[in-house]
Parts: sequence; structure tokens; C-alpha cells
Amino acid sequence: MARLVIVSNRVPPPRERGQLAGGLAIALRDAIAGRDTLWFGWSGNVRDSETPIHETRAGRLRFATIDLGQAAHRGYYNGFANGTLWPLLHWRLGLAEFRRPDYMAYRTVNQAFADGVARVLQSGDLVWAHDYHLFPFGAALRARGWAGPLGFFLHVPFPPAPLFRMLPEADSLLLDLDAYDVIGVQTREDAAYLNEAMASLGLKPRAEAFPISIDPDDFAATAKRAGRGEDVERMQASMADRALILGVDRLDYTKGLPERFRAFDQLLRRFPNQRGQVTFLQVAPVSRGDVAQYRALRRELDELAGRINGEHAEFDWMPLRYITRAIPRATLAGFHRMARVGLVTPLRDGMNLVAKEFVAAQDEADPGVLVLSRFAGAAAELECGALLVNPHDPDAIAEALDAALLMALPERQERWRAMRDAVWSNTAADWSRAFIARLEAR
Ligand code: ADP
Ligand code: F6P
Repeated sequence: MARLVIVSNRVPPPRERGQLAGGLAIALRDAIAGRDTLWFGWSGNVRDSETPIHETRAGRLRFATIDLGQAAHRGYYNGFANGTLWPLLHWRLGLAEFRRPDYMAYRTVNQAFADGVARVLQSGDLVWAHDYHLFPFGAALRARGWAGPLGFFLHVPFPPAPLFRMLPEADSLLLDLDAYDVIGVQTREDAAYLNEAMASLGLKPRAEAFPISIDPDDFAATAKRAGRGEDVERMQASMADRALILGVDRLDYTKGLPERFRAFDQLLRRFPNQRGQVTFLQVAPVSRGDVAQYRALRRELDELAGRINGEHAEFDWMPLRYITRAIPRATLAGFHRMARVGLVTPLRDGMNLVAKEFVAAQDEADPGVLVLSRFAGAAAELECGALLVNPHDPDAIAEALDAALLMALPERQERWRAMRDAVWSNTAADWSRAFIARLEAR
């Protein structure tokens, strides 16, 4: 079996390498399990200057990481990747900042990744690069002589072609993408937009949808176990029989958090019967805190959370609980299982694994209801059972919340079973297998 070489900006942090955690790591776990794998990426460390490759090993999985220099980190990661591409790919042109030096840093880091990978490649390897940090990586690797299989998967959405082409460097990024044999995206809509953009330059359109997923058996088992654990017991005791509405997201402006907070405010205003009966827990660990738009979002949410609680709380009821730190995955799984409503309302999202995790975590005897943005990639698979909402419309979200909180058990079960079938019929293992099979057949 060919060795797999995974290339991504973020690799699992050292303490998690023996026991893979994190979305991408979990999605790839099955692909990795049966074969020799090398995973190349950024160590997460920023140094005064670039340093050589560090290698570690966990069984048949080898990690090779490089540190980034201060300037590269600023221009590549904070700048072009997260200050330009991230907003643009999520259709937020107004938030994108265009700075030529950032683009130059982005290209330089992609060249450094290609140098590092070229040094460790062996003939017969399969190379699979991930996400918007690495559009030019494939072309850079080809320029270093690699002629073997080379795939790319974009985890985030791709916007309509005319919007993407407002980016000054759009054409050169599309030309770079042409170096990949297989280009995977999350949904058919993303594939259509990327293909249109490639075709407009006379390139062969080759983006295909490979919707990413989770390991639902594993998440369900974790949730069940956690349900008997101390954290969930403490949480339950603190709820005093109130229904839990749960949100779990990185603190990111694509996740629709201010709109979601306003929707909760609307729920309490417009549906007074729910007052005192519900608790909304939003867990949103700070992400990309060096980027200005993320800092502004945090200030906005701090203010909104304070105002909502100040206006609606009683001396014995705090309606909104807001945590800006990550909490352990098992505890989260247990919270999903006890939630009456999973509230997942990104303004736009490639897939949104949290929506699938919520479904996997439920107890068939008493499942919660998923309120889901129609603009999450997951909506294509979960519209069979979720209450779909327009995430820009707090009133519509409030109405869906009220409906979810009032929904009788038989309807909750019927909706959940439909979503369960969807989640279990396309798992993370299916996703990686399908992509790798496509790459092997190139
Ligand atoms: P994104 O890739 O944009 O962050 P996804 O929903 O696709 O969004 O994936 C996020 C992953 O990170 C999920 O597996 C989720 O469980 C995990 N995660 C999100 N928020 C937290 C949190 N507060 N604590 C721990 N894990 C989290
Ligand atoms: O899913 C999108 C994504 O950007 C991943 O590529 C990334 O690892 C994750 O979100 C978290 O973001 P970051 O690596 O910037 O902390």
C-alpha cells in the first residue's frame, strides 16, 4: 500500500499525536490507521527565524513540522490566509484585506512547505494537501520535480466565481490549483463555483464534492460515557430541569454568533413562556486572536452577552452562559447529549462538523432538535431532519428555537432518525476512502 503524505497548515499538537484529536485528524484517522503516513505542516510555533524540520513518530505515523518566522506568520497565516482568503472564501468580501506583501509571504511559506515535503518524498507516495493555506503548494511541489499523485481538499466553501475573481491574485491561485490531480470540496455547490472559476481561465474543471464527516460511532460512545461523568452531572445539577440550548464553535465571524445571541434575546422577548425555562450555553474558544476582525467580534460578543443577561436574568436564573475557552471533547459530547436544542447557525460554513457531532451524540429515547443554518455545508445532508434557518434572521431563529423547545417526542425522534441515517451513511472513513481511491485512480 502506498505511503500517504498529508500536508496541512495545522497538524495535531504534540500531546495529541499518540491519540489523534481535532476535526481533520479524526477525519483522517481511518486513512492513516492501515498504512505508513507522513504528516507535514506548521508546528504551531513562531520563532525569530525559520528552523529546520522537526520529526516525531507515533507508530506508523510520522510527523514532520516546521516553525514559522515572525514575518512569515504575520503575512502568511494572519495576513493572506486568515485576513484575505478566509473572509473571501466565506463570501465576506467586505472583511477581506488585500496586501501584496501578505500574498508574497503566503507564496514563500508554500515554497518552504514544498521544499520540506520534496526532501522527504519517496516514489510511490500519495500526496494529499489540505485547505486554503495551500493553494500554491501543489504547483510548487511539481516545480521541484514531483510527478506522482497529488490531491487537494478544500475544507471551506468556495464562493461564486465573479466574487472570487475580485481577489487580485485569483487567477494565479486558480492556475496553481491546476497542478493537483484531484480537487475535493465539501458540496456540489462549491464544486460548481470552483469549476466555473477554473473554466473561466480555460482550465480543466475538476473539482468534485467529497463531504467530510465524523466518526459517529466513536462520538456516540463518547457522549454516552460522558453522560455518566462528573462534568455532565455538575452541568445537569446547575440546570435545575431547564432545557439546554447548546452552541459550540470557534470564536469566528463566519459562525453567526452575534446573530445567534440576538436570536436568543428575541426568543426571551417574543416567547415569554420560555423565560426561566431555558439556558443557552455558548462555548466559543478564542481563535486567530491576532487578527483584527476576530478581536472586534470578541468585543461585540462580550457586550451582547452582558446586555442580554443584564436585561433578562433573574436573581436565580442566568439565561446565557458564555465560555471563550475550549472544553474537553468528551465533556462537549456529553453536553450535546443532554441538550434539547443544538444551535448551529454559521453565516456560511464549509461543512460544520459540530452539526454532525450533535446528531451522533443524541439519545434515541429522548433526542434533541438541531436548528441549522441553511448555509452550512451540512445542511445538504441534514435538511431531512433539522429545522433549517436563515442565520441572518434572528427572528426566524427565535421562532425555530421556540418550535424546537415545544416539539413533542415522536416528531423529535422521527427527525433525529432521518439525520442519524444521513450521518451514519457517510462517515469520516468513507470520506477519506473515497478521496484516496479517486487519487489512486488519477
Ligand atoms: P471549523 O473547522 O470551522 O472550526 P467545524 O464545526 O467543522 O468548524 O469543526 C470544529 C471542530 O472543533 C469540531 O470537531 C468541534 O467539536 C471542535 N470544537 C469546536 N469548538 C470547540 C470547543 N469549544 N471545545 C472543544 N472542541 C471544539
Ligand atoms: O476548517 C477550517 C480550518 O481553517 C482548518 O483548516 C483549521 O485547522 C481550523 O479551521 C482551525 O483554524 P486554525 O488552524 O487557524 O486555528
